[in-house]
Parts: sequence; structure tokens; C-alpha cells
Amino acid sequence: MPIDVAARVIANRPLSSDYNVLALAAPAIAAIAAPGQFVMLRAGAGRDPLLRRPFSIFEILRDADGSAIGLTILSKRIGPSTSLLYDAREGQRIDCLGPLGRPFTIVDPPAHGWMVAGGVGLAPFAVLAQSLRARGVASTLFYGARRAAELFYLDFFRDLGVELVLTTEDGSAGETGRVVAPLERRLAALAPSAAVLVYACGPEGMLAATARTAMSYRRPCEVSVERIMGCGLGGCYSCVVPMRGDDGAVHHVRSCLAGPVLKADQISWD
Ligand SMILES: Cc1cc2nc3c(=O)[nH]c(=O)nc-3n(C[C@H](O)[C@H](O)[C@H](O)COP(=O)(O)OP(=O)(O)OC[C@H]3O[C@@H](n4cnc5c(N)ncnc54)[C@H](O)[C@@H]3O)c2cc1C
Ligand code: FES
Repeated sequence: MPIDVAARVIANRPLSSDYNVLALAAPAIAAIAAPGQFVMLRAGAGRDPLLRRPFSIFEILRDADGSAIGLTILSKRIGPSTSLLYDAREGQRIDCLGPLGRPFTIVDPPAHGWMVAGGVGLAPFAVLAQSLRARGVASTLFYGARRAAELFYLDFFRDLGVELVLTTEDGSAGETGRVVAPLERRLAALAPSAAVLVYACGPEGMLAATARTAMSYRRPCEVSVERIMGCGLGGCYSCVVPMRGDDGAVHHVRSCLAGPVLKADQISWD
């Protein structure tokens, strides 16, 4: 059962003029959260915005004994809720419901974990990278952004031993262009006997390109889909994703319940 708490803002760290990392005191949610799960946050106290918004659980905060004391979210300011989250002050309370949704599959060695992130799609991968490391799985993060200043938390991933493959659209860091290009090269060079699971999160176009690329090399891929979510609990059907069944017929699933993590080869990408 998801837990609903009025979480105290522990800290709010701006990373840029649009991105911030908000730390919330929600120990009960943090203690049971798995990589890829999300929370529904109500950013304001009044009626505007009325509905909660979904956010991936970015980090689990722990005390010196290792007990979970809270979680963070990586937020990109695009509208009313994310603007309120950007401006949130320490000590303020934010309604936080979670953990919600189905998490990523954590592979075991010798399989490798390749994470593919576009922009704020980095959000589920901090916790995933920690889980992969805890299992001794070698991991790589393919991380694309518009410019170097929008590539965040690189040292966090390096400290976990994650190999970084960076791309920027303007060429200010890493390879110039989209993140799927180096992913494709690496897939093409991978020995057939090597096992890898590709995890992806980011804009819809990037997800579709990643999924098609992984499928073309017959590699398993899990994507975290971002649909507009009105409730996060299966009640409003705002979040449906077309999926292809074994019989080839398309049916719709609610991504807040069946996802947000879905198997890429089961989604109808047309
Ligand atoms: C499972 C899940 C996890 C998410 N995790 C994060 C996260 O970690 N960090 C983060 O910054 N954002 C995340 N998002 C997206 C986030 O929920 C939206 O950015 C947020 O709802 C925006 O709220 P707002 O009130 O600021 O803007 P809104 O007014 O709600 O939205 C502004 C504009 O963006 C469009 N929009 C809103 N949400 C989406 C969406 N999901 N897909 C496509 N268009 C959309 C709206 O139609 C509108 O045009 C996640 C979404 C999902 C479904
Ligand atoms: S968000 Fe309401 S059904 Fe999925």
C-alpha cells in the first residue's frame, strides 16, 4: 500500500535556473522504495495546482546507521507544480504519496546494466545505479542533455563506478548529438554471448529510438514511460500506454499501475 505523508522539506538545492533537487523527510516511503518507482507530490497548499504530479524517486537519504530518513526528487521546472517545487523552502510541508508503480528489474552479474537517460530522465537512475552496484553489476550511463551545464550528478555516478558516456546537442560536453548514437555503436560491438539489460528514461522520442535500437540488436530493454498522471492510483485513465499482447492485438494499460517501467518490446510504438 502506498503511504501518504505531509513531508517536510529538508533541503532544496538549485542545480540550474530550471533544475533543482528537493529533499523530503518521508522515511516510511523511502524505506520501501525500489528503483524506478515514483511519488505523487502536491506542490502547493491551495487549489492551484489541484492535482498531484508524479516524480521519480531520485535518491534515498540515509542516516549514519543506514536507516532511510527521506528521499529526493530531481525536478525540471516546466509549469505550476515544478515552479512551486523549485521555490520550496526548508521546513515547508509537501504532500507525498508513494512509493508507486512497478520498478526496474535488477539484473545479476555477469549481465551488465546500461542506463540511457535524456535530460530529467536521469531521475530514476541514481537509485538504480546504487542497486546495480550492490549486486556487483557493471553499469554504464549513456546520458544526453542539451548542453554541458545540464549534465548533473556526474561525480555521483563516477563514485559508484558507473562508466559515463555523455552527449550534448550543442557539443559542449561529450559527443555531439543524441544519446542513442553511442548506444547503438556499443550494442553493435557487444559480443553475442555478453548479457545486458538496457534501461531508459527520457522524452518519448528518445525512448522510442532507444527501444527500437535495443530491439534491433535483440537486447532486452525496459523503459520508464512519462504519461500525464492525474491520480497515480489507477482511477483516472489519463496515463494509458498501448501495449501489444502475445496475439499481436493492441490493448491499453494504465502506466501508473502496470508501469511506469514497461518492457520496450511489448509497447506499441507506432
Ligand atoms: C512516472 C513519472 C515520473 C516523472 N518523474 C519526473 C521527475 O523525476 N522529474 C521531473 O521533473 N518530472 C518528472 N515527471 C514529469 C512531471 O510529472 C511533470 O513535469 C509535471 O507533472 C509538471 O507539472 P507542472 O504543474 O509543473 O506542469 P504542468 O502544467 O502539469 O505541465 C506543463 C506542460 O507539460 C506537459 N506535461 C506534463 N507532464 C507531462 C508528461 N508526463 N509527459 C508529457 N508532457 C507532460 C503538460 O501537458 C503541459 O503542457 C514524471 C512523470 C511521470 C509520469
Ligand atoms: S494516473 Fe490515474 S489511472 Fe494512471
